[in-house]
Amino acid sequence: MADVPSEETLDALLKEDRSFPPDPAFTEQAVGTKELFEQADADREAFWAQQARERISWSKDFGQVLDWSEAPFAKWFVGGELNAAYNCLDRHVEAGNGDRVALHFVGEPEGDSRDYTYAELLAEVKKAANVLTGLGVGKGDRVAIYLPMIPESVMAMLACARIGAPHSVVFGGFSADALRSRIADAEAKVVITADGGYRRGKPSALKPAVDDAVSGETTVTNVLVVQRTKQDVDWHEGRDIWWHEAVAAADPENEAVPVDSEHPLFLLYTSGTTGKPKGILHTTGGYLTQVTYTNAVVHDVHPETDVYWCSADVGWVTGHSYIVYGPLSNGATQVLYEGTPDTPHKGRWWEIIQDKKVTIFYTAPTAIRTCMKWGKDIPAKFDLSSLRVLGSVGEPINPEAWIWYREVIGAGTTPIVDTWWQTETGAIMISALPGVTALKPGSAQAAIPGISVDVVDEQGNSVGNGHGGYLIVDKPWPSMLRGIWGDPERFKETYWSRFDGVYFAGDGAKRDDEGNIWVLGRVDDVMNVSGHRLSTTEIESALVSHPKVAEAAVVGAMDATTGQAVCAFVILRGDAGESAEGEDLVTELRNHVAKEIGPIAKPRQIMVVAELPKTRSGKIMRRLLRDVAENREVGDVTTLADSSVMDLIKQGMDKPT
Ligand code: WT7
Repeated sequence: MADVPSEETLDALLKEDRSFPPDPAFTEQAVGTKELFEQADADREAFWAQQARERISWSKDFGQVLDWSEAPFAKWFVGGELNAAYNCLDRHVEAGNGDRVALHFVGEPEGDSRDYTYAELLAEVKKAANVLTGLGVGKGDRVAIYLPMIPESVMAMLACARIGAPHSVVFGGFSADALRSRIADAEAKVVITADGGYRRGKPSALKPAVDDAVSGETTVTNVLVVQRTKQDVDWHEGRDIWWHEAVAAADPENEAVPVDSEHPLFLLYTSGTTGKPKGILHTTGGYLTQVTYTNAVVHDVHPETDVYWCSADVGWVTGHSYIVYGPLSNGATQVLYEGTPDTPHKGRWWEIIQDKKVTIFYTAPTAIRTCMKWGKDIPAKFDLSSLRVLGSVGEPINPEAWIWYREVIGAGTTPIVDTWWQTETGAIMISALPGVTALKPGSAQAAIPGISVDVVDEQGNSVGNGHGGYLIVDKPWPSMLRGIWGDPERFKETYWSRFDGVYFAGDGAKRDDEGNIWVLGRVDDVMNVSGHRLSTTEIESALVSHPKVAEAAVVGAMDATTGQAVCAFVILRGDAGESAEGEDLVTELRNHVAKEIGPIAKPRQIMVVAELPKTRSGKIMRRLLRDVAENREVGDVTTLADSSVMDLIKQGMDKPT
């Protein structure tokens, strides 16, 4: 049983400005060593070439390591050929590790678990690849994937990679409308979905959203449907195909198609500062190299002995890089869990760690804070002694949650790696190496070997230690995004124009006196709610698409559990009527946002106001609205076109809506 510290101990730890050096016994066995820093500093490109050749199998070796002649469009490992699915499956089987468990799948309903060895997973992926080819999906064609957290998600992604068809995974929590726009933007040919999945003890339908998303004019010719819950589905003869029937009937033989290092591996849509989601493009060689390397050196994966678990959903980049491509390319054994941490009880995660003897656990700060709220007695009921590395991702982790994570989950001894990266960076960029770094709770610490980042001021000059500014990446890296699907201008404009020739991440950060990086959060109109990225503008567009709304402004307000929460201010249309005020309207608008984008985007709070604070040029001053949403004294209003607007809004706040 975990030795749980008292509240006093936790408090005392928090007050101490401690740093936690690695345990020498850990360093002794660690994959990530301090020599990596020396090698990368000596010759960065040679370092990456070595990682690519040692960690990845290429069917044709590459020549030039990096072609940056058309910056910011990079080419890594030029001329090389490989297949990502081959690297994730075949090569492990060929090396005699076919009997190693690849996935310990744990379904949400208790007792619903299945293991897949590498050989079994490969056999399924080969057949699924043949099914896709049979549906006319060729190299370069896009496939949309809209699935719950079940093994078929992994199989579907790898089947696409195997035939060189880029996948576009859409998180199962997104609405039909959001799915439709992503399918349309990528011009996907096939959608892979399921009848439903289990969520909080109940089957929850997925297929109806797909039916809706592909109705009318569409590029989609077929829908492959995994049977997960056996709930009733509408069936469209000629278009819909059961996955299990097609896979069972498929030829078991299939050769992975070697693709160019720069062949698109996937698109993943993420929120930006405008209303339209961006299809972030990742290619094969550089991406696979960096996810494989980082998963090994940051999570310290020893594939022969570790049981790894990343609690993310495959619908987000964390799932792509650290459930599918990184761990499988490393040949690791991992847990894949379908459900929520509290189904059927609040100790479910810890029970899974105990049962599967998980050694490495990677999750998000919002989940840790939720577990803190539920209390340390819950994890204390389970044996968590198998854990030896803990990871955090998605948003800044506050020192209090960091300490709790280490003391209560990690028995006060496990290293915690706080990993900063983004959908766009493809893989981890800033993190401790658990065998090298003296850990500082709350800091993501330093760029990993091979990566170069900085914190700069408005002019792009390094701020130096002890100062804050903007986080940038000043050298190209293998898993960098190669563009925004169909929009090269937006790619240049969004990431490469703020500071000349360097990548602007959109985050604010500070460097402490020792040079450690503390990521402070987004400096643009992007919010981070429970580690999910949402755009203020996208939610504003959803709100104004409602007939009763004339104008809307959305801000991310601080929230103790979710990091940020969505707060909306709306002006109603003149004809919305008096009756439109009140709770019914707020519910209606929240549901409308859920329908347009997905339940994750529902505002926590919607406030009906008469005016919005705007500058003379008409720009909404979100900073002032954030002051209201966070119950603060409202800041400087002198640049407002009408400075009395804020008084009106505040008066309105006092009467409940
Ligand atoms: C944004 C990227 C990284 C995969 C999941 C999210 C924030 C991410 C950290 C961290 C502080 C973090 C940043 C970043 N973020 N990790 N360790 N510390 N902030 O990917 O949806 O593309 O979001 O998440 O603000 O820009 P994403």
